[in-house]
Amino acid sequence: MHHKVTVIGAGTMGSGIAQIAAEAGFDVTVVDTDQKFIDRGIGGIGKFLERKAAKGTISKEQMDQSFSRLKGTTDMKAGVEGAVMVVEAVFEKLEIKKDVFMKLDSLCPAEVILASNTSTLSITEIASVTKNPGRVIGTHYFSPVPLMKLVEVIRGGKTTDAVAEKTVGLCKQFGKTPIVVQDIPGFIVNRFLCLLYNEAANMINNGAASAEAIDQAMKLGCNWPMGPNEIMDLAGVDVCYFAIDAMYQMTGHEGYKPSPLFKKMLDQNLLGRKTGRGFYGYEKKA
Ligand SMILES: NC(=O)c1ccc[n+]([C@@H]2O[C@H](COP(=O)([O-])OP(=O)(O)OC[C@H]3O[C@@H](n4cnc5c(N)ncnc54)[C@H](O)[C@@H]3O)[C@@H](O)[C@H]2O)c1
Repeated sequence: MHHKVTVIGAGTMGSGIAQIAAEAGFDVTVVDTDQKFIDRGIGGIGKFLERKAAKGTISKEQMDQSFSRLKGTTDMKAGVEGAVMVVEAVFEKLEIKKDVFMKLDSLCPAEVILASNTSTLSITEIASVTKNPGRVIGTHYFSPVPLMKLVEVIRGGKTTDAVAEKTVGLCKQFGKTPIVVQDIPGFIVNRFLCLLYNEAANMINNGAASAEAIDQAMKLGCNWPMGPNEIMDLAGVDVCYFAIDAMYQMTGHEGYKPSPLFKKMLDQNLLGRKTGRGFYGYEKKA
């Protein structure tokens, strides 16, 4: 029998999570608010799988099989039917996530695991709207999901041992390496990265080092594949700023107090690759 996983939200992360579950042999249903988002998400997975088949990483048959396991619906009730786990990957807004978890809690039998892919919000807080918070857990995947090995598995205040163990097992079945973390702001990775990104921006802002010097230093001295400013340009300078500011609000730690450079960059629309300029220029050559 094929087990089924349901993913709520067919965006960047939801479609990535749907892809790895389908490639691992699970039947997958993706739920979003509009068919056009589902088509975009599943279409993106199709293209990713085609590229893998073209490179010879998977066979054409594997590509077809993985793709055939994917379904989409705008009807959450029908979408979660028969799932062993539901992974939520909707917008990073507490009220929206709480609303989704309230609905999932009423639709899914008690043994179904309800996981959130939040990058900053408290799992305990999300779980507080459910009648059964013991089955709520965080599974924080990294972008691009099919390529990044880590999943931070976040135990909420009431998450049961059985749910944590089962979640770790499912993440391994999806081909990932889970690390169990406590429900603290930023979990592990963003707790560090936000400090580093902020310090890089502070050094540039006060003239201590250029973006190039910082990136070269971290690549050559620490073997980072990309420097912190290159990563911020890729992820979006605005996205990084919001995460740093959220960390500052949650912890009060001065190291997260957003560098004044971020405001200057946001005001000038220097958001990284997506706007053609951030710490570096990416203007298309004519
Ligand atoms: N993008 C990243 O690098 C990254 C990394 C780790 C975690 N996250 C987290 O993953 C989550 C999703 O991020 P994303 O980048 O995929 O966002 P996204 O904007 O690409 O996708 C979100 C999707 O959720 C859908 N959606 C919104 N409300 C919904 C609802 N009530 N029911 C069903 N679908 C709904 C939207 O239509 C959209 O398709 C966020 O919590 C984010 O913080 C993102």
